[in-house]
This record gives sequence, structure tokens and C-alpha cells, in this order.
Amino acid sequence: MTTRREFLEQGAATIAALAVPALARAATPRFAELKARPARVQLAPPTYPKTEIWGYDGAMPGPELRMAQGARIQRSFLNELPQASSVHWHGIRIDNAMDGVPGLTQPAVEPGQGFDYDFVVPDAGTYWYHAHNRSTEQVARGLYGALIVEEPEAPDIDREEVLILDNWLLDPETAQIDPDFTSRHDRSHAGRRGNFIATNGRFDLSLDVKQNERLRLRLINAANARIFVLSIFGMEGWTVALDGMPLSEPKPVSEVLIIGPGQRADLIVDVTAASGETAHLVRVEDQEGVSQVAFPVSGRAAAARRGSPHPLPPNPRMDISGMEKAVTARLNMQGGAMGTLDAATLDGERKSFRQLVEANQFWSFNGTIGMTDTPLVSVPVGETIKLEIYNDTSFPHAMHLHGMHFREVTKDAALGPFRDTLLMFGGETRTIAFVADNPGKWLFHCHMLSHAASGMMTWLEVT
Ligand code: C2O
Ligand code: CU
Repeated sequence: MTTRREFLEQGAATIAALAVPALARAATPRFAELKARPARVQLAPPTYPKTEIWGYDGAMPGPELRMAQGARIQRSFLNELPQASSVHWHGIRIDNAMDGVPGLTQPAVEPGQGFDYDFVVPDAGTYWYHAHNRSTEQVARGLYGALIVEEPEAPDIDREEVLILDNWLLDPETAQIDPDFTSRHDRSHAGRRGNFIATNGRFDLSLDVKQNERLRLRLINAANARIFVLSIFGMEGWTVALDGMPLSEPKPVSEVLIIGPGQRADLIVDVTAASGETAHLVRVEDQEGVSQVAFPVSGRAAAARRGSPHPLPPNPRMDISGMEKAVTARLNMQGGAMGTLDAATLDGERKSFRQLVEANQFWSFNGTIGMTDTPLVSVPVGETIKLEIYNDTSFPHAMHLHGMHFREVTKDAALGPFRDTLLMFGGETRTIAFVADNPGKWLFHCHMLSHAASGMMTWLEVT
């Protein structure tokens, strides 16, 4: 009898024997390159050595991709990493073949190989791109960047800043990235949480402003697992968009702003602090405020303070109709430390929780761990899907849907803002709805990347 393992090893040997050595480099790229490669950057304070990262074009964050609404992105991705990779364009209602999910929408791009991404961006807003193969490792090493799609008519602001928030796990002596990306503790608890927080790769980001200046802040949470709880100080602000999509009414930033991994928030803020003072984007931790980004104020803008901002123009095709006849599905999330999971199906076999722990797999969706050949829901294009999600775990999860935006259906049957990532706390049941108007195979997973790697991943099919 051949065990599964022996079988796989035999298979590997045969393939290796047959393999033609790969050419070092594919033909000249068709489009502008986006090259994933190792690099060294000064991430920790200057008294520390530089940190080895992986970055797009060797930078961290990668180059900002900025274009007009409706424009076409064409990029030849080249992989100069020591492992296979792919690029996912988070939040874009994209052509499925360009979504960048190895095994579902494309093969992983092997080292030395490339892949041409070519798609249209239908929606204005704040998006981002990041590696989508072995994401726990690749995103933690720095493979991400902002993808900004501009409204045809710019809002009335003086300037804008893109702020990518991340939380790194660094060795406290050498400032190198902790290479244990499969930590059992991280997987079974709140994910890979770091010890070093940065914005745009800087721990001390400081942006000079003037009193009365009106800024648009595009916040992107690129952290593996950290939920950023933010507030503003010395500024008055409004949230104008979430996950790229405009709110119908700007919402004053009065209390804290909670941004889960993968989520974005666009703020319009007016600097109210006087010249000589410093305004701050503040991280709220244990009732204390810690500066995330400093905005030293010098001088005063020529214009007087404006009234509250207008809403951003809505993106096209955003209505949700057909709620009465929606296809409904339920997703039960279980597992993790201090959870209720005592058995689940892994690779087609029923496993006890103890066996799951041995396999370093911890989270189940409807009793199954990770991806299978069966989608959670399969509908013809145009159908409305209503998904009731129960977080029967002790941890928060940031559930991200690829390819489409959804709205939360609140208890009183009202619809929340359009989002692509839903942050859910332990014990919560939340319902989302969306029109499945984008054909293809779409991932639905937790953006706490250690959770995605240890079970929290499923997919939907729109045919
Ligand atoms: Cu931002 Cu499937 O990821
Ligand atoms: Cu999770």
C-alpha cells in the first residue's frame, strides 16, 4: 500500500525528472514592470541596522499606483523572490482572471517568472495591492502598496496623504523580520501581531501642515493582524469613504475609528491646531493616545475654514436590489484558542481538535478547514446573496470578499455602507448582502493572515 505521502513524493520525483530547466527570465515584459524583490530599508530607528524586506520595485511600501477612474492598469509582475508569488488588487471589482489568487484564478508565479496584469478600475477610491501567495509571510515582509483611483472631479481639499499602517514583528536586537510565519500561537490566537508600528515604512512619520488646511487622509491597514483604533487630535474630520466606497453622507470623526486588517478609511480633516502646535493621528491604546502620524503646524492657510465636506460622488452600479429573493447562506466560524471547535474536516478527513492542532490548522467555516472544491455559495450572475455570519470564536476576524463590495444588513433591516472587509468581534452574528454581478471564483477569507493560513478561507462562485 502506498501512503498519500509516498504517492506525492513519487509524483514529485517523476515531475522533477521530466522538468525542463526554467529559462532564467521570460521575454521582455509587455507592460511597465512591477518587480517583487528583496531589499534593505531603514525601518527601525537609525541606531539599528537596516531591515531586509521584500518589496515591489524594492520599495516598502511599493510604488503608489494612481490612475483615473475607468483607466486601465497594465503591469508586468516579475518575481525575483526566492518563492512563488502573485499580486492581488484588494477591493477592485476586477476581472476574475486578474484577481491574483494562486490555485483559484491563476497559477502562482514561480521565481524568475512573470505574469501580466491588465484590468480596468471601475471605481474611484482607496485600494491597495499585495502579495497573495503565502501571504502571512509575503505581506509581513513588505509586499504591498497603495492603489489610488481618482474621482473625475477632485473634492475640495488642499492636498492628500496616503497613509499605510503596518505592524512589524522585528527582532529587538537586529531589527530583522521574525521568520516564524507559521507560529502555532499566532495562528490559534489573534494572528501575527508585531512589536513595531510604522506608517509608510516610517515609525516617526511627520507631515508639515498649515492651520485651516484641508487634507484628505487615505488610511490603509496593511498589517497582518493588528486592528488600528485611531482618533484625531488638533484636527476636525469626517469619514468620507470606507474600503474605497464613498459614504452617502460624510460622518464626523467624533469617537474612535476602527480599521481592521485590509480595511481602508478616507478622511477629510481640517487642521484646527494653531501655528507652532502639532496635530496628530492618534492610536488609542489602553485608554492612552499614542501618536501614529504627527502634523506640525506652521503658518496658516490662505483660505478660511470651510464648512463640512460634500459627499464624494457615488461609484457606478452600486445598488442592491432583489433582497426579498436573495440566495441566503450561513457561515459559522469556529476554532482557535478558547473556542468551541472539537472536530472539523481537513483535506476530506474528519479530525479531532487535537489532530488539528498537530496539523497547525485551527479555524473552520461550517465545519471545514480551508479551501475545498466546493464553493460556499454558487449563483448565476446577477443574483443577490445574503450571508449570515456567526463568529463563534473568541477572536475578532476581518472577513474580506474579493471582486465585489457588500453592505451590512443591520438588525432593523437597514443597509450599512459598502465595504469589502467586515470586521467581526467574538460572539457576533452579522449579515451582509451583495449583488453577485461579477462572474468568477471569488475568495472570501479572514484578512488576519495567520487565520487565513490556518483554515479561514472559502470561496464563492458566480457563473
Ligand atoms: Cu487583501 Cu484575499 O486579500
Ligand atoms: Cu481571523
